[in-house]
Amino acid sequence: MDRMKNKVVLVFGAGSVGPGFGNGKAAAVAYAREGGSVVCVDVNLDAARNTLEVIESEGGAGLALAADVTKSADIAAVVEKTMERFGRIDVLHNNVGINAPGGAAEATEESWRRVMDVNLTSAFLTCKAVLPIMERQGSGAIINISSLASIRWTGYPYVSYYASKAALNHFTRAIAIEYAAKGIRANAILPGVMDTPHIQKQISGYYGSSEEMKAKRDALSPMKRQGDGWDIAWASVFLASDEAKYITGVELPVDGGLHVTVSGSVTS
Ligand SMILES: NC(=O)c1ccc[n+]([C@@H]2O[C@H](COP(=O)([O-])OP(=O)(O)OC[C@H]3O[C@@H](n4cnc5c(N)ncnc54)[C@H](O)[C@@H]3O)[C@@H](O)[C@H]2O)c1
Repeated sequence: MDRMKNKVVLVFGAGSVGPGFGNGKAAAVAYAREGGSVVCVDVNLDAARNTLEVIESEGGAGLALAADVTKSADIAAVVEKTMERFGRIDVLHNNVGINAPGGAAEATEESWRRVMDVNLTSAFLTCKAVLPIMERQGSGAIINISSLASIRWTGYPYVSYYASKAALNHFTRAIAIEYAAKGIRANAILPGVMDTPHIQKQISGYYGSSEEMKAKRDALSPMKRQGDGWDIAWASVFLASDEAKYITGVELPVDGGLHVTVSGSVTS
């Protein structure tokens, strides 16, 4: 219950695109359940507020702020407000991620650049803003939400998503090594097939109905069911906690074992 006690956690993408709990919203609530003060940041302020309401309704504390993770000025304002209110940042959690359809020949240049901006440049910008603070503190933990698609073909033809998440992994490793001796850890989490509001909006175009999507994604998992936002949330809490003090530079699949399998496709 107190793995985040006295820690200040900054979650980018802390809302959810639909009702229920996505990966970012569940993580924000889980950090608060472990005693952390959680700054919930989202491009949609109502979504960030909704997450903070859940936290406060459970007796937790935090702040809800609006920011677009592709804009360094927005991120600077969030970091400034967080420091004003709490005086430190112990955990940086980068959850925001989007995808756009298309292989290398089909994807538009615009969609490629947008996905890179939202999935990869965003983490660069938040780390750039927060790392100097963690370095002064002599401690910190960064959690980047990647995807199993960073290391596997999953069946969706979305080349920019694969590339952006693969780059996010190695960006995370580079930070892990550069800052290892400074008390700062950086790890990536690779969700597999997760049943979150996000999938309804982001990948529903690949299926005839949401029932078909659920059936195919459930069947793909060795556990014969998708995971959910809480699976990502508790993995995040562990990696951000002092219990994981000797773990840095890893990519942790949270996928019911899917990464071990030889082949598979979420659409067939
Ligand atoms: N659900 C899955 O099956 C699955 C699988 C692999 C990886 N992931 C990864 O999980 C993450 C998404 O998880 P989620 O369930 O919380 O998704 P979500 O789509 O609900 O996103 C959370 C929040 O991010 C916010 N957001 C979007 N663009 C933003 C921006 N530019 N700036 C600030 N906030 C922004 C949204 O408003 C939303 O409230 C992504 O990184 C995604 O790639 C998900």
